[in-house]
Amino acid sequence: MPTVARSDLRMLVESSLTLIEAHQHSSGAYPASPNYPVYQYSWLRDGAFIADAMSRAGRVDSADRFLRWCAAVIDARAGQISDLVARAGRGEEIRADEMLPTRYTLDGGDGDEPWWNFQLDGYGTWLWVLMAHTARHGRQLDAYRPAIASTVDYLNAFGERPCYDWWEEHAEHQHVATLGAVLAGLRAVVHAPDEHGEPLLDAGRTRAATTSIDALEALIASRGTADGHLTKWLGGTAVDGSLLACLTPFEVVDPHGPLAERTYEQVRDDLLRGGVYRYLGDTFYGGGEWLILTAWLGWHEARTGRPDEALRRLDWIAAQATPDGHLPEQVSGSTQYPEYIAEWTERWGPVATPLLWSHAMFVTLALEVGL
Ligand code: BGC
Repeated sequence: MPTVARSDLRMLVESSLTLIEAHQHSSGAYPASPNYPVYQYSWLRDGAFIADAMSRAGRVDSADRFLRWCAAVIDARAGQISDLVARAGRGEEIRADEMLPTRYTLDGGDGDEPWWNFQLDGYGTWLWVLMAHTARHGRQLDAYRPAIASTVDYLNAFGERPCYDWWEEHAEHQHVATLGAVLAGLRAVVHAPDEHGEPLLDAGRTRAATTSIDALEALIASRGTADGHLTKWLGGTAVDGSLLACLTPFEVVDPHGPLAERTYEQVRDDLLRGGVYRYLGDTFYGGGEWLILTAWLGWHEARTGRPDEALRRLDWIAAQATPDGHLPEQVSGSTQYPEYIAEWTERWGPVATPLLWSHAMFVTLALEVGL
């Protein structure tokens, strides 16, 4: 039985959209969280999924503004990208700190605090969201061409390289959710027509992207599964909540097929309490339940014929809202290692609240269940 009235759920959807718009910077960037000391930056990963929710909710202008901000950030680094790609082509060693960052200042700068910066998933995700948004709302792609081309070149050259994962950890591994985001981005553009019905990518990039796609698919199929499910990283056996994105919405694997089903079951069985853990062994604020991942589980459930479960996730997320209607990044009710909470609280204060990505994923799930 639902614990939160439908009218309250709808109000939380509305206030989430208003909150996201209120915090969107005049540049178009979305800060990860307006209140948390190290989250007043815009991450391509968080931002792309926030723009995706805004696009789905019909807030077309907000999504356009974020996507144009991404294009400007990438266009400003076109020289850096072509230089990196050329060096990689010559077989030169490139350090991780020479690669593009994972988060930017709201006005599109690099930021000067040290961070676990080298992450590739956001570059695939922005391409995927851009293509879905422009198709959904009939938007023009012309202005995005240079940024699309640079992103494709970057992902073709580096898409398989080990990097930090969605949680900014384990840079030594190739993470299946990261490879899946890269794959989803490349697949979204490789055969896409532009608004004149011509191929969006030139022939050389189409060939290179096709080769990358084949290689990424082969890698995931050969080393990214164990016991019939996708794994957190190549060669591993454990699951991670971020793998849900490989099912819904990226469809890296058939979301209705046996590999997706086993992945869903393993994530649910290992990581679901009331909400979903990132992974077993997480110690960030003790490793609590994450709202975005709970929404993700529900999103996949809604798309695979499990509407009751999906509604239960929506309810659970809404029940975590503060009295001001703010959704945190995670909650600590069933924390894996409560003894770590104090360490993080002393370092950066309480859990990030509101987290714009939590609000966005709540909106996405609410729309998916037809609220
Ligand atoms: C999470 C990232 C997220 C960032 C900003 C980190 O704690 O691990 O996935 O992009 O916060 O929200």
